[in-house]
Amino acid sequence: MHQTEMQNDILVYGSYGFTGNLTVDEFQRRGLSVTLAGRNEDKLKQQSEKTGLPYLVFELNTPELTTIISPFKTVLNCAGPFRYTSLRLAKACVNSGINYLNVTGEFAVIEQLSLLDKKAQQNGCVVLPGAGFDVAPSDCLIAFAQNKFPGARTIRLCLSLGGRPSRGTMRTSLSQFKEGGVIRSRGLLTPVRIAHKSYKIDFRDKVRTCVSIPWGDISSAFYSTQIPNIEVYMAMPNRFARLAKLAGLFHGIVKRKPFSSFLASWVERQPEGPSLSEREKGGSRIYVTVNDITSRKSFLLKTPEAYTLTAQIAADAAIRVTADTVKPGFHTPSTAFGMNYIMKFKGVERHELVRGKRNRL
Ligand SMILES: NC(=O)c1ccc[n+]([C@@H]2O[C@H](COP(=O)([O-])OP(=O)(O)OC[C@H]3O[C@@H](n4cnc5c(N)ncnc54)[C@H](OP(=O)(O)O)[C@@H]3O)[C@@H](O)[C@H]2O)c1
Repeated sequence: MHQTEMQNDILVYGSYGFTGNLTVDEFQRRGLSVTLAGRNEDKLKQQSEKTGLPYLVFELNTPELTTIISPFKTVLNCAGPFRYTSLRLAKACVNSGINYLNVTGEFAVIEQLSLLDKKAQQNGCVVLPGAGFDVAPSDCLIAFAQNKFPGARTIRLCLSLGGRPSRGTMRTSLSQFKEGGVIRSRGLLTPVRIAHKSYKIDFRDKVRTCVSIPWGDISSAFYSTQIPNIEVYMAMPNRFARLAKLAGLFHGIVKRKPFSSFLASWVERQPEGPSLSEREKGGSRIYVTVNDITSRKSFLLKTPEAYTLTAQIAADAAIRVTADTVKPGFHTPSTAFGMNYIMKFKGVERHELVRGKRNRL
């Protein structure tokens, strides 16, 4: 199926959120019409007037869900936190043989969606979470690292966002924070204290403090590589790293009402997301080390700013899936499109790090 035959085959749910908006712009930049969707009619109307695209208003708990989505080949969900929006929509899609994608970095959501694999295969559709900065670039880099080091048993992934997170990302991180830390150990998701470990990582432009976070790759990288031990770290200024450690130690208190309500209201007062000029200047770095008992290899991926890249990946992935280029079933970005997928995006560079030197790959 060519892109020209694809007009209005894709529904974007949460289209008027910060990430949804950027993604709709990216579809239009590629000359593709999509249908806007969400639960707020005023915001959809405004977006429709600006873009000239059709829209559908519906809540995800409507009994009409299956009927509403039935004209579409693919649903791209940009409405997060995805723990509240993903499963119902994904199940409705899979039951009707409609492809489902989202831009989640929430490991619990990826776990839930992996359980739809069999049904998706039976009904001939694709389920693909993580079609954004989380987790597509890291997932491809990890698959590449495994290809270079097939015996690897452990992955340590460190993300440096290099820019401000959106309000929606902060809201999502906060809802994850309440649950505590998680790593993958011996193949199993294993609870740990929030920020239970930290490292100084040389991202080759700067040494940054990285603190452990419960992020999507502890699921996606496992489904992509079967490597049984996975930890994810986020670079942050030292003062935030110290706060994260304290929050980990006093998690029982910090997750309770007065403190969590204070954090939630602080998040709601933050800007919607990085401005265009911030996005144009920004860039992210992803560092991965894979090892077995005796040796290890490290790789670095440089990417454009995270929200710009998310919009590009989400639109590109939805178009590829709609074009029937991916085998039905549950996928991670690297199992859907291959480990070199991320290299097709402008501004992405991949390096193997050899004793302080970089070898571009
Ligand atoms: N993979 C990645 O790298 C990546 C990149 C960017 C964002 N994200 C994730 O994407 C999500 C959205 O981020 P954002 O910055 O776009 O946030 P945002 O600007 O707050 O937008 C959130 C969107 O989701 C909708 N929504 C939220 N809860 C909903 C629910 N229960 N039912 C229906 N619609 C709901 C909102 O609609 P209303 O206004 O009607 O509530 C809005 O359209 C976050 O979870 C974020 O972490 C991931």
